[in-house]
Amino acid sequence: MIVLGIETTCDETGAAVVEFTTDGERGRILSNVVLSQINEHAAFGGVVPEIAARAHVEALDLIIAKAMAEADLGFAALDGVAAAAGPGLIGGLIVGLTMAKAIALTHDKPLIAVNHLEAHALTARLTDATAFPYCLFLASGGHTQILGVRGVGDYLKLGGTVDDAIGEAFDKTAKLLGLGYPGGPLVEQEALRGDATRFHLPRPMAGRHDANFSLSGLKTALRIEAEKVAPLSDQDVADLCASFQQAVTDVVIDRLRAGLKLFRARIGTPTALVCAGGVAANQAIRKVLHRVAFEVGTTLVAPPPALCTDNGAMIAWAGAERLALGLTDGLDFAPRPRWPLEQVMKVAPTSSLPGRSAALSVAE
Ligand code: KG4
Ligand code: ZN
Repeated sequence: MIVLGIETTCDETGAAVVEFTTDGERGRILSNVVLSQINEHAAFGGVVPEIAARAHVEALDLIIAKAMAEADLGFAALDGVAAAAGPGLIGGLIVGLTMAKAIALTHDKPLIAVNHLEAHALTARLTDATAFPYCLFLASGGHTQILGVRGVGDYLKLGGTVDDAIGEAFDKTAKLLGLGYPGGPLVEQEALRGDATRFHLPRPMAGRHDANFSLSGLKTALRIEAEKVAPLSDQDVADLCASFQQAVTDVVIDRLRAGLKLFRARIGTPTALVCAGGVAANQAIRKVLHRVAFEVGTTLVAPPPALCTDNGAMIAWAGAERLALGLTDGLDFAPRPRWPLEQVMKVAPTSSLPGRSAALSVAE
């Protein structure tokens, strides 16, 4: 089964062609083209929705043509067309979903309206054929969640952030320290030559039984520490970055321990701990994820960084998983800027696949 996937929820224009087999094996990426709009937004220190939407309009035709050419396929060879229909910025969602509808209509192919978070959640099955149920740590610029992934369309939220997302905290830290955008990789780079013990920052929510995060207090504490030593030398910036990253990794390990405990109590033994989202590209965070997975006797499945950040391949894969279960959408499907993963559910499956089965239940 071959599916085209289109990603336009934020500031990456992505298109990819992925092949899905029905034998429970990992997928095959035939092409995966991503155009980042970082340069367009850098001057503003963050994503400007109007600029993002216009950039998607300008680039999407070419990106899709490139993905099809690299896969060496024509539209007639596709079994379905998938697009991220939310959550995300409305302008970009309209661009991507409308394009998918046009291709589906013109070539008489089924449309799959994919939830962007579900696509992050299922990426480990594309890369590693990870069996259900697994524990997902999703950490991106817009989302921070610990989820039980029990099947396609069957997610149990075990924890989430009550304020900022982790990627957002990295981005705000970078902005405060004048490092630029996006902040995650820049803070990580600075942290390499910094002293993580120099500044004392809080570990918000540490020790709590729930698996929730709170990061806005950490960001404020960092600002206060920075103001105390301003004007900042290069070494001050590096030490602040290292101290911040250390605090975040300590929080991640504590919150994941709580999340995995909840997973065991409510779902059972996870087949793996899986990470997804741009923050999972951070090497220090990956290291603690390995540690916490080892502690609970499971393994970490960490897709390559290019598949952790936004891309079309994950949309194509999630579309294929849904298509294989007979879950397609009508051409009247409206984009959903807000679309919590718990609201994605499986309805009326037409088939069930070995190793990729899904239970018919709605996450609590
Ligand atoms: O998943 P993603 O590409 O887009 C969405 O937000 O959906 O994630 C982007 C986020 C940004 O906040 C970025 O700063 C963060 O992921 N990020 C990182 C790193 N690389 C990207 N955060 C920490 N360390 C990194 N190396
Ligand atoms: Zn994302």
